[in-house]
Amino acid sequence: MYRNILADSVLSREERSTWQNMKGSNSWRNQWLRGRIAAKEAVRRSVQDEHDLALFPADIEIVPDRHGRPMACGMWTSQIASTPSVSIAHTGDVAVAVAGRLVHGGGVGIDIERIERVIPENVVQYAFCEQERILIPATPDGLRQEWILRFWCAKEAAGKIIGSGIIGQTGNIRIEERRIQSGKVTVSVAEKLARKFKDLKKKTIRVATFQSDGLVVGISC
Ligand SMILES: CC(C)(COP(=O)(O)OP(=O)(O)OC[C@H]1O[C@@H](n2cnc3c(N)ncnc32)[C@H](O)[C@@H]1OP(=O)(O)O)[C@@H](O)C(=O)NCCC(=O)NCCS
Repeated sequence: MYRNILADSVLSREERSTWQNMKGSNSWRNQWLRGRIAAKEAVRRSVQDEHDLALFPADIEIVPDRHGRPMACGMWTSQIASTPSVSIAHTGDVAVAVAGRLVHGGGVGIDIERIERVIPENVVQYAFCEQERILIPATPDGLRQEWILRFWCAKEAAGKIIGSGIIGQTGNIRIEERRIQSGKVTVSVAEKLARKFKDLKKKTIRVATFQSDGLVVGISC
């Protein structure tokens, strides 16, 4: 009941209909709702800060584009020059989102993973190309699992900025450099992918990675 009251107060009419007709487990529906709440709050704050325009969560509709990338929509977009880009990530019962003004094309991207997650070796082989895997043994002892998660989150955050996601893009979204001290990761985007997603004006994406509250976070904005 509490969940339905929450959904009624934050979702737009269209979103409420999506929510009511959504198939899948309760935990999946909860995850979706948490992601929507986080995204609406991120967009609301961004629009307030950048444009001094006050919005209610239900004014902000989060609509996926044809690749699944969330877009912030609503009547309010006609009142401002540029609509903020938004990105969502969830794991278990945590959802996060980031929103920001579009500067020189591209957008924002975020990904999170639980720090205790261990990515099996066969998945590491599939998710990272040889050039990236070389960086793993070069990581100080005790930090390797964490850095595998940081690389994972950096690539996912980059895939969300591009709008392609990461599936099928292993070599096209590649880690070029990382700084162990600062957690900064530089990710390159293959020419053909950058051409396909024309919003993207730059071929390298800087992702900040860090650990917070039991999560590894990759964020680029
Ligand atoms: C869909 C994908 C973008 C992220 O999925 P995920 O890790 O399963 O889930 P996350 O919680 O991190 O992100 C989900 C959110 O990504 C967003 N998303 C989905 N497709 C997207 C796209 N093409 N572009 C940008 N954002 C996208 C959506 O907002 C989604 O949340 P929502 O369904 O509630 O709206 C995609 O990269 C994927 O499926 N990855 C699978 C994991 C994998 O193989 N990773 C390899 C790491 S190197």
